[in-house]
Formats: sequence, structure tokens, C-alpha cells
Amino acid sequence: MHSHAYNTLDPVVEARVAELLGRMTLDEKIGQLNQVSPMMYVPPAPGADREAPPTFAPVPGVEEQVAAGAIGSIFNVADAAVVNRFQRAAVTGARLGIPLIVGGDVIHGFRTTFPIPLALSCSWNAELVAQTARVAAEEASAVGIDWIFAPMIDIARDPRWGRIAEGAGEDVCLGSVMAAAQVRGFQAADLGTGRRVAACPKHFVAYGAAEAGRDYSAADISEVTLREIYLPPFKAAFDAGAGSTMSAFNDIGGVPASGNRLTLTQVLREEWGWPGLVVSDYESVRELIPHGVAEDLKDAARQGLTTGVDMDMVSRAYSTHLRALVEEGRVAPAAVDEAVRRVLRLKFALGLFENPYVDEDRQAAFQLTETSLALALQAARESMVLLKNDGGLLPLTPGAQRLVVIGALAESRLDALGCWAFFGRAEDAVTITEGLRAHLDGAGPSFVPGYALPGSTTIDLDAAVAAASVADVVVLVVGETQDLSGEAHSRAFLGLPGRQQELVDAVAATGKPLIVVVMTGRPLVIPRLEQQATALLVAWHSGLRAGQAVADLLFGVASPVGRLTASWPRAEGQIPVYYAHKSTGRPAGGDGTTQFVEHFRSTYLDLPNTPLFPFGYGLTYTAFDYTDLKIAAEVVGPDGAVSVSVRVTNTGARAGLEVVQLYVRDLVGSLTRPVRELKAFARVELAAGETRVVSFAVPVSDLAFVGVDQKWRVEPGAFRLWVGPDAAHGLEAGFVVRS
Ligand code: NOJ
Repeated sequence: MHSHAYNTLDPVVEARVAELLGRMTLDEKIGQLNQVSPMMYVPPAPGADREAPPTFAPVPGVEEQVAAGAIGSIFNVADAAVVNRFQRAAVTGARLGIPLIVGGDVIHGFRTTFPIPLALSCSWNAELVAQTARVAAEEASAVGIDWIFAPMIDIARDPRWGRIAEGAGEDVCLGSVMAAAQVRGFQAADLGTGRRVAACPKHFVAYGAAEAGRDYSAADISEVTLREIYLPPFKAAFDAGAGSTMSAFNDIGGVPASGNRLTLTQVLREEWGWPGLVVSDYESVRELIPHGVAEDLKDAARQGLTTGVDMDMVSRAYSTHLRALVEEGRVAPAAVDEAVRRVLRLKFALGLFENPYVDEDRQAAFQLTETSLALALQAARESMVLLKNDGGLLPLTPGAQRLVVIGALAESRLDALGCWAFFGRAEDAVTITEGLRAHLDGAGPSFVPGYALPGSTTIDLDAAVAAASVADVVVLVVGETQDLSGEAHSRAFLGLPGRQQELVDAVAATGKPLIVVVMTGRPLVIPRLEQQATALLVAWHSGLRAGQAVADLLFGVASPVGRLTASWPRAEGQIPVYYAHKSTGRPAGGDGTTQFVEHFRSTYLDLPNTPLFPFGYGLTYTAFDYTDLKIAAEVVGPDGAVSVSVRVTNTGARAGLEVVQLYVRDLVGSLTRPVRELKAFARVELAAGETRVVSFAVPVSDLAFVGVDQKWRVEPGAFRLWVGPDAAHGLEAGFVVRS
């Protein structure tokens, strides 16, 4: 897929920027740095219809301000006619006619709602992820969105944090691959709308390290962790061509991200030489005041601009105070010029000066297409993760068993959509019961809600137990509604919400085989449910075709291929639990021993260290065997690559896809190193009985880490290497990197 790059300087664009800048007044410059939302989200009233589309109220005066050249960008207007109206005000009303750039939160699809990004990442399929981003860009550009506030590429190791739903999970390597894939998709060169779209990877940076998993909370991480864990996905996104980013809400070691010279200026500009545009997150410049580092809005404006935030989203700090700050000599005119240059650069590169208006007919003619819905189905199928399948209960044979579906989520369209689906429509979604019915020629399954949505605090045990008693197999659909994850939706308890576990207990007591389908926006804490389930499928919130995908997997029309990209804890008290943890000076022995087995170790008194399900884990309808791990040369030079091969055999009776994962451990470093780090993976499809030799060449440069001097380096010495099905297993070998 060819895509545009917005991360390089084009001499023609630079000349146009310079010429225009030379004609701008200070007020016109400040206008370019001011981003407003002309439509404010109105939270639904208590008791409102859950499936009603979100409502937005117009903010008065915005069109006039655009015509006065006081606004450079608007966002979250998903209507071509409204976009054109504002654009006309900018192009024909304002003195210089500089077009607006129109932003939009398109996180997992636009009208074609795809699985939440956490789910999509479980496909480990970068090409698929890129295609979903491309469809999203195509649809969003039809209503005039030029600039997509995605991908969300915050590494997240705390499932209490509701925004774990929006990213690719806990791992730096996979997160970087997914970040780049989404940028490529969003910035695909040849959108049929004739328009271009720029990506805005966010949130810069370390927002996912929110203390206690509470949204907007502090990230008190070391600079080494910042550089080694949280920055690399951004580097990958920029290298893939991203020309903008969004500065985050959190503070890092006491410095708020939207006033952080280290990250915004030193890293982005001086170290990476990146010429892109930094937009603040929503009011994060103003929030320097409650953070307690700015006295007032003027001080916030000064800190924001001088540390490297080019465009101010919503807080009006720049539009209110920049002029005075420049006149008082507290902000250099050159700093304002540089920020404006970055805005204009993106506008020119997007072709907005030539093509500011969007074709309104496209929006009027919009229909969900067969192709995009087929992609939504494929994405949903590949996102889901099979965690348990005792006795090979799955796949089912249609019509062979009497099925009952229990759980209101099985009939919820809204909850299939997921947390960031402002532009998706519940009415377009297929439910799980509809999906199952389509396989059963109208002959069932019967359905019992079991609990009432939202909240799941009302349950009907009798009806559920009665229905289960006359069934051969129960499909129990439980989990989170879509409004329990996403921004400002952190949870302290990660079990099944409401009274769902009571319902599960009652149904499990019937002794019927239970296929548990978990819809969720995050890893949950479900050790009891895992025991009760005969089969356990994580369906996430997987978009418009979630229900069909669940049915296809349960009936074996498709086989599960998803693998977890974030660990599932045994208990909230283990959080953060992630595979790439440090060894400590007193590592737990064996498989996560407790103090009762071995004293004075880094363990809990009451629980193993290991998660319930590790990173990388997922089953399918066959089994794989790993043999013959070989490293071509056990000693490699600093410029070489570690060449590894392994034989993978499908030992079952069905075809299947294995995600072969390669991990390393640097045994002795100048700083402590994670016990394992993913360095490569391959998706391998094998027919029943087939064996394939899977090869990897890991460049030695990929073994680098950040030292005390904050610089990346590869340190010579001994490494361990594993190739296997997840972060907790695999064949093991060793190699040495020489200096
Ligand atoms: C706040 C969110 O943190 C960010 O992800 C989003 O893009 C902006 N609001 C704009 O809606």
C-alpha cells in the first residue's frame, strides 16, 4: 500500500510556507495555532436510549471567528455541508484565505466500525490493520475530515486504564508494528475521495503509564523507561510518515506532557529532527494550571508554546494570550513562526489550498460497502482469542446440539461497536444471536437475556437456569458494555460487572457445557469464570460484524487466529502484570512460586506472579509442535543478524494459523534487562499435518537498549532466545554478540 509521508521537508512546500508566512500578521499567525471544536458533545441524560446516536450542540460564534482568521483548525464535525460552510468562511472570508484543517477522532473505523484497536492488535496482522485504517480514512475523508486523531499508540500495561482498549496492548515491538501499519493505512495515497488524510499518532507521551490505571493520572517513570518503552511506537509512526502528534494529558516525573521540553523539543526536534506538527490534547495547555505548574492561562500559553506545543486544542490559551506574550518579549516571534510553519506545512502537504472543499454528494451517497463489511468481518474474526477449549467442544456442528444463548450482550448492537464509535451506528451491527441464527436455518438458538443492560445489576436466574437445563450446550455471553472502557472509564475491579458472575454460577450449576463468550474492552480478571467455562472465547468489542464473527468461529467456518497482546491478570493486585518485566535480585523460582514454597523471593504470599493468560497466548482448533530450534551462528558481530530457524508442525486434524513468536533476553547489561522481549513474529498457516521451517533474522541492532546516558546501545555478551507460541513457553537457545 503506497502512502503519503508528512514527515519530510519538501522544498516546494517550504517555499510556499515561507512566502505565505511573510504575508501574515501576528494575529493571523496566532489564529493558525488555535483549534476549536464547533460542536460540543452533550452527554446523554440519565435513562436516555442507549442506542441513540450521540448528540452535539453547536458552539456559537465559531464561523465568525473562522472568517476573521482567528481559527486554524476545527474537529469532530462529521458533516460535509457543515465542514464546507466553515471552510468557505476560512477561504473566502478571512483575508489570506488559509483553509482550515479538519480533525476527527476515528479510532476504530468511521461508519464501518471495526474491532477496538486492542482487539485488532490480537490479529498480529499488520496488513489487515492497515486496511481497516485505510477504509476508515476513506469514509472519514468523505465528510471532510483531513486529519485523523489516531492511531492511539500508548503502550498500556494496566488494564484498569480504560484506554487500554484504544491501543495495541503491552508490547513495544508489536505496538510499533501496529503504529506504523495504521499510519500507512490512514495516509494511503490514493483515496477514492480524491482527498488525503494525515494521521496523528497519540498521546505524546507515556499516557498509558497512568499511575493506578486512573485516567489522566501521573506517569512517574524514569527517562530510560520513557525512551525504551513509550517513545519507540512514536518513532515507528513518524518513520512510517506521520507528520503530527498530540501532546498528552499526563505528567512524566513531574513535567506535564503539554509543557515538556525534553519530549517535545529535545526528543522530537533535536534528536529525531522531526518537522511535524504538535497539537495539544483537549485543553491540555490550560490544564498546566490544575497540574500546578502554571499560574494562569497566560503562563500556560507561554509554557505550551515555548516547550513545543504548536497548536492549542480548545483551551484558547494561545488565542487569548500569545499576542501579549510576544509584545512583552516573553515568547520569541520566531517561536510563533516555527509553530505556524508546522501547521501550514501540513495544510499544503494535504493539498488543502488546492482542494479545500469536500464533495457533499459523496456523503449523501454513502453506503456501507460489501468490501468494507467483508473486511469488518475478517477483522472481527482475526481479533477474537480462544482461551480455552476443553475436550475440543468447539467448533460446534450446526444443528447437532440444542443451543441456548444466555446474556443480554448477545443481543446488544451498541456494545458490539466499542468505545470510540461516535460515527458508527448500532443499527448496522450484527448481534451474536443473529450471527448464530444465520447458521441454523432459522432453527434457534433460543435466547434468554439473563441480566438487564446497562449495569447488569438485575438478573433473572430462574429463566436462565430453566433454559440451560433443556439445552445441550449453553453459549453464555458476558462481559463489559462499551461504555466501561475508553477515555475516563477506568475500573478498579476487573471482574464481570454487575451481577453477571452470580448468573454464571447458577448456569454452571446445571452442569451443562458452557461456551463463554466475553465481550470486553480490556483484559478482565476472571479466574472463577475460566474454571467454569468449558470453552472461552474473548470477542472484545469487535465492531459491525462481531456477532457474525463469533458465530463463524463457534461453528468452525473460521478458526480462531487471535493471540493476546496484553496479559490477563489473575487478580487486580498483580497489576501491572506484563511479560517483559525485570528479573529483580530475588526472582521468583519456577513458575511463579509463592513465599510458602521459597522464602524471600519477589513473589506474593497468596498468588503466583504469572498472569492467568500470558501475552501472546491463544488457541485454535488444531495444535502445533515446535522442534529443531537452530541458530545459524552462535556468535554474531555487532553489524550482523541472529539467524534462527524452527520447525513448526500442525499436529491436529484441521488447518490452522500459528503466530510464531521470538523472544530474547540480554543476560548481562549495564542496566537490568527484561526477562524476555519480543523481537520478531510470523503468522504461519499450516494444513493438517503440515510442517514448515520458519526462519527469522533479527538484526543485532534490534537488541539495543537505553543506557544510563539515555542513548541506545547494543552491549556485547550472552543472550537467551526463545521461539514459541507465547511469552511463557518456547524452545530455548543461546547466542553471543561480540564487540
Ligand atoms: C481527548 C482525547 O484524549 C483524545 O484522544 C482526543 O483525540 C481528543 N479528546 C479530541 O476529541
